[in-house]
Amino acid sequence: MDENKLQKLLQEMTLQEKIEQLVQLDSSFFDNDGVCTGPVEKFAMTEEQPYRVGSLLGVRGAAKIIDLQDRMMALQPHHIPALFMLDVIHGYQTIFPVPIAIGSSFNPELAEQVTAVAAREASAAGVQVTFSPMIDLVRDSRWGRCMEATGEDPWLNARMAEHMVRGFQGDNMARKGKMASCIKHFAAYGAVQAGRDYNVTELSEHTLLEDYLVSYRAAVKAGAAMVMTAFNTIDRKPCTTNRRLLRDILREDMGFDGVVISDFSALRETIVFGTSRDHADAARQGIVAGCDIEMMSECYLHHLEELIRTGEVSETMVDEAVMRILRLKNALGLFENPYKDASVEDEKRLIFCEEHQALSRSVAEECIVLLKNDGLLPLSDKQKIVVAGALAQDREITGSWALFADWNQTITMRKGIETLYPQADVTFFPSDNVTEDMLAAARTADVVILALGENQRSTGESQSKADISLSKEHTAMFEAVYAVNPRIVTVLFGGRPLAVPELAAKTSALVEAWLPGSCGCYALADILFGRVNPSGRLSMSMPYCTGQLPISYGANLTGRPKPEKDGFFAFTSNYLDAPNEPLYPFGYGLSYGEVSYSPVTLDSYILQKDGQITACVTMENRCELPVKEAVQLYLRDMHGSVIRPERELKGLQKVSLQPGESRQVTFVITEDMLRFYDADMHYVSEPGAFRLWIGHDSLTENSVDFILA
Ligand code: NOJ
Repeated sequence: MDENKLQKLLQEMTLQEKIEQLVQLDSSFFDNDGVCTGPVEKFAMTEEQPYRVGSLLGVRGAAKIIDLQDRMMALQPHHIPALFMLDVIHGYQTIFPVPIAIGSSFNPELAEQVTAVAAREASAAGVQVTFSPMIDLVRDSRWGRCMEATGEDPWLNARMAEHMVRGFQGDNMARKGKMASCIKHFAAYGAVQAGRDYNVTELSEHTLLEDYLVSYRAAVKAGAAMVMTAFNTIDRKPCTTNRRLLRDILREDMGFDGVVISDFSALRETIVFGTSRDHADAARQGIVAGCDIEMMSECYLHHLEELIRTGEVSETMVDEAVMRILRLKNALGLFENPYKDASVEDEKRLIFCEEHQALSRSVAEECIVLLKNDGLLPLSDKQKIVVAGALAQDREITGSWALFADWNQTITMRKGIETLYPQADVTFFPSDNVTEDMLAAARTADVVILALGENQRSTGESQSKADISLSKEHTAMFEAVYAVNPRIVTVLFGGRPLAVPELAAKTSALVEAWLPGSCGCYALADILFGRVNPSGRLSMSMPYCTGQLPISYGANLTGRPKPEKDGFFAFTSNYLDAPNEPLYPFGYGLSYGEVSYSPVTLDSYILQKDGQITACVTMENRCELPVKEAVQLYLRDMHGSVIRPERELKGLQKVSLQPGESRQVTFVITEDMLRFYDADMHYVSEPGAFRLWIGHDSLTENSVDFILA
């Protein structure tokens, strides 16, 4: 349909119809046969009204969506198709590692492959819009939702965000197998105070713009069709009614012209926040702020008409919101084909097909992070191995958003090892009970592998923790085994970086497996036995203890830095009872063997404002295995009108190297990479001295200085 036809359609719609387009209900309104049996009284709706709303959330399955779309179009006066939206976060039924793990692949192209497969499966099941990716920056692992984010770094998050959006939408979301992407949660949900979910945020303008909004800017530029508001406040105003955030920053400044949706009942919750007096006031503030669709609350439905009649809201605002929704339906091709890709045959053919399972496995190979290795890894199948811990046989390691997966098909760690290494001498004790049998076997084993950490029920929405140390039970188990045999490989599962300083000091090897998805434990087994060389890098620093949170590698400087040497620190910025540094920083991760780097060279030490300089290193793979090396480029502005981070990731290349192979890697540095919000909030670069590092991780000392003229 062209724009004129859409405008004509809008003009023909009654005000009531328009308002219904702004309402989203969830699947609880309909039974399995598409009959409305849901909470219509609670929402003060007629039985017919749920069929007339603009969009539904949580309905899935080709047959169901085709049937419901028919019913809805029949009852919508202009037969406007409904939008079907769902949380397809890290896979639909083929589940990939959780986003915090995907971030740890340090491979944005891989993230694009993941969302492309998620879109292929979900669109066959009739879903047209996904509430994904979540691109919130997160530096506090108390927040359970850090699992859904790609980590602590603005630049890495931005690259992940744009690739994930592209994977879902492609160049044209009407195409088969593509869907619209709704980025969330706008904005700074990852900065909820003290890591407690749904809490308020307190951020400086600099931190908001410079750190938290970078991924949004990138995803909007990449064409994300929708934006979801966040539950938290910015500047003490709930995001869903935050006009400055939604209109001035998102629409005006970032140029976003797609659809804004509230989070689940977030508009109604502004009454609980105390910033809206009642439902009518919430409706007024929501539409004025620029929230187009109200998810699962009824303020717009019951109050917009009256607000327009009394002149408190102009009908133009409603028209603009409806037009954005109609344009999205049109961009998805729904006026021509309201079922989009819903197809029972395609569901059977595509969902959890072998190709997708293989990708779930190979993605996990790059997400798992080796944090310590005293030489105990890789294992050999000649060793006597004991594997202990309930997580070794737990299927709940796919992630709390893996709602539609068949968990019976999840590959556990035990299944991964038994299937791929049947010849290995492995005894399993898949329990967290420290039994005499287990200790006796551990005592005589060559290696004990402990599966510790958290399963998917411990992270996700509303799963914040005040203490992120390893549970007492798992600590006791580690200590009991350590007392009989210190040759321990610890595999940590979970969706958040845990604080494990004592364990890390004692264990011989430490592997962060995250929540690796449907087939990720095949990758885990291959890494443990050395068929795959680990290449993941932490997307979030692993703190030393809860008290360090929030923490990030790029922390801003202080006027009283702690001296580098150990000893007595008088009046410096330090803790009495913990180091300042995390246990393992962002970007950190080992392989089996070393990749060496030559010193960085520059083709010029002076960067002209409109010019470029090229930085170069030569790497050599000294491992006995092929390796995928995440080459990281960091920059530091040595002097600024405001304090600048100690270092910032500004470039990344994941390079495959055969054993013994050398390769030259170059990065081009341009002035725009050096910009930031200066003391007057102008986004500029300031001439002067800069330092540049290229190396294996954020600790690299391989640096060179240059000047911006
Ligand atoms: C609430 C969550 O915050 C959001 O991420 C999700 O997309 C919606 N519920 C819909 O399920």
